[in-house]
Amino acid sequence: MQLSLNVLIVDDEPELVKSIVSILNTTLPEYRLNTKEASNGKMALDSVKKETFDLVLMDVRMPEMDGLEALKTIKEVDPRITVVIMTAHSNLQDAITAIKHGAFDYIEKPIDPEKLSALVKKAIVTKEMVSNLTLSSPILDDDIDSKFVGASEKMREIFHLINRLANVDTTVLIRGENGTGKELVARAIHSNSPQKHGPFVAINCGAIPENLMESELFGHERGSFTGAIDRKIGKFQLANKGTLFLDEVGELEPDLQVKLLRVLQERKFMPVGSNREVRTNARIIAATNRNLEKMIEESEFREDFFYRLNVMPIFLPPLRERLDDIAGLVNFFINKFSRKLNRSIRGVTTDTLAILKKYRWPGNIRELENCIERAFIIENGPFITPLSLPENILREINNRSNILLTGKYSGPLDYDIFKEAAEKEFIESALRANEGKINKTVAHANIPKNTLLRKIKKYSIDVSRFAKD
Ligand SMILES: Nc1ncnc2c1ncn2[C@@H]1O[C@H](COP(=O)(O)OP(=O)(O)OP(=O)(O)O)[C@@H](O)[C@H]1O
Ligand SMILES: [Mg+2]
Repeated sequence: MQLSLNVLIVDDEPELVKSIVSILNTTLPEYRLNTKEASNGKMALDSVKKETFDLVLMDVRMPEMDGLEALKTIKEVDPRITVVIMTAHSNLQDAITAIKHGAFDYIEKPIDPEKLSALVKKAIVTKEMVSNLTLSSPILDDDIDSKFVGASEKMREIFHLINRLANVDTTVLIRGENGTGKELVARAIHSNSPQKHGPFVAINCGAIPENLMESELFGHERGSFTGAIDRKIGKFQLANKGTLFLDEVGELEPDLQVKLLRVLQERKFMPVGSNREVRTNARIIAATNRNLEKMIEESEFREDFFYRLNVMPIFLPPLRERLDDIAGLVNFFINKFSRKLNRSIRGVTTDTLAILKKYRWPGNIRELENCIERAFIIENGPFITPLSLPENILREINNRSNILLTGKYSGPLDYDIFKEAAEKEFIESALRANEGKINKTVAHANIPKNTLLRKIKKYSIDVSRFAKD
């Protein structure tokens, strides 16, 4: 399909405008060109206010409003518009001023056709790159149930990275806690990449028994081991011309890491029981929630394999560090389940949203999704209320706010008093939950033992009253 290109040509010499139109038409056959003309800056400004242009080619010296003034005003109307200034060699100073005011570039008059077409191409490519960078969210297949939600600054950065990485063929390692969206990112990179029409093949390295993993990845020949009745095509071959997603790559056994390292380096492998090498051009994306650096220290993960995978890492932040995304995700899941379960819920109440923002979400977005799905079953009214949230979420929030409420006393507010009150409350509730057992409290509340003992003494807490009799 031909891309359309809207160009505004601004010059007070009609002959020059005509020749530019014909140069563009002959040198850019890959575009469906729509040209508009204007004979001074004022007319140009009127056109820009009415229509959207991919490019403005503009003379400087014109009656009524000159090119430099028009440029400034056009940029105020639409700062992203690409303006190329046309100027005579003797007036190069104009070109410099124009670039300072946001012109993309300049071209000297008389216009050289080759230079003009090269410049226009450069302007288009740059514009596309810039607009990719500001894309709101990466596209995901045509599956209406999956969409990338992310309003937070951190997710914006990830969107930029996805759009950039989609177009370069490097290995990507996606890292993040459970349920942060690692697989979604992998799919988004695939769907925005040149391999998007090829397959997206996922393999969970943690879910397949060790002895079958090699043949899962590389395939096997008939009779190559007991049970190998038929020839099997491995995931690497299935993912040819597409993307192979190695999920939970941290679970892979070291000897398989060696084999995979070789595939990443040489782009070829040997099916089990075969003596024929097979080439692969699948793009590799891996994901893990494990601390691979620590695993390397403990010799559970190979350093050479790690460096091969880690060419471009993407870190997905946990949900509790992107609270700005919660409202958007909640709405997205409410719409999803309204469609799926054919039951309409209009939103969450304000207090429910406040609770959802306070909770720590150890299971991240997946946990939030499950929480909303569950609320659809329990809630009778049009809005999700705190009563239809899972017990564990309410309990955690409650525990925490009890501590904080201790500080809300009526005396003069003092930070140290508040802090101590909260600390005492925390320690007492931790002891209560652990029946006054010191070692259990240490482990459970993640507090060093000597700190705990010191605080018990400081606040004169009678531990024996928490013991179960
Ligand atoms: N930004 C997002 N917008 C919308 N949905 C999301 C987003 N991130 C994750 N999800 C959804 O949350 C669920 C979990 O995401 P995904 O499976 O990609 O996470 P993961 O990091 O691979 O989890 P795990 O570590 O458990 O394998 C999926 O249903 C996914 O569609
Ligand atoms: Mg996953």
